[in-house]
Amino acid sequence: MKKILIVGAGGQIGSELVPYLRGIYGAENVVATDVRECKGLGDDGPFEVLDALNPTNMASAVARHGIDTIFNLVALLSAVGERNPQMAWNINMGALFNSLEVARQHHCAVFTPSSIGAFGPTSPKDMTPQDTIMQPTTIYGICKVTGELLSNYYHQKYGIDTRSIRFPGIISNKTLPGGGTTDYAVEIYYEALRNGHYTCAVPHDVYMDMIYMPDALRAIVELMEADPAKLKHRNSFNLASMSFTPDILAAEIKRHIPDFTIDFDIDPVKEAIANSWPNQLDDSCAREEWGWKPQWDISAMTRDMLEKVAMKLK
Ligand code: SER
Repeated sequence: MKKILIVGAGGQIGSELVPYLRGIYGAENVVATDVRECKGLGDDGPFEVLDALNPTNMASAVARHGIDTIFNLVALLSAVGERNPQMAWNINMGALFNSLEVARQHHCAVFTPSSIGAFGPTSPKDMTPQDTIMQPTTIYGICKVTGELLSNYYHQKYGIDTRSIRFPGIISNKTLPGGGTTDYAVEIYYEALRNGHYTCAVPHDVYMDMIYMPDALRAIVELMEADPAKLKHRNSFNLASMSFTPDILAAEIKRHIPDFTIDFDIDPVKEAIANSWPNQLDDSCAREEWGWKPQWDISAMTRDMLEKVAMKLK
């Protein structure tokens, strides 16, 4: 990775991945793009408005900047996808297809996030294996599985260096996630600090995999820098870090804010999605093939989140 293009850079992952990559590879070597102007992303490095659904414009950016690696971060998340499945398919698959095609024509590597949402109710729930039944019931998950297969296809057929991670819900304090089922695990910190109370849309006892952003960023770079000879899998690696329920997270927050309270107003769409996803993934392939090891657990993350979000809310 010497010259990187990020499409969909204005979202939850991109807003932190851009500065992280710029710190490692040099600000001028990380070109951030998004469908709209994004505050901050152009301050210390190149930023362009780019619609990832326009392959001509994407190819032109790749050629102009001499790009060798594309990070495709464009996606509508799971809950919002259910409100407009056709749009979710068009955006999620369109951006990936264009990234792969531009990569094929310009000899680039491609990273695309997949998700725990690529699994469904027929997948084993506990220690969900790397290679298992994948029959998701959301349009988001259907796009993720299709994307994994398509990315493997481009690798096998055209030799494109495609790599991907099945991310847990990502918890972060810079940019809010938008429209996901795991969003509660971010919102809860803001509400705990603002009001001492949070009303959660996801049932109190549903386990889902989660990861803190610093671990997620490190995982992306470690996978992209991994020796290709060691990779038996590519699209996409199970990744695990922590798994908890809303009750467990609320109890952790209460250790810092004793008066914190939580109640539940269940969103049936999020409930159905959360129930269809695994409790915890088995990430042994990521550990074996490229040395993955999480550094953050729920208590260290909660301490850090409360500190950072408190500073932000001041
Ligand atoms: N965080 C995503 C969502 O909830 C899952 O990848 O949709």
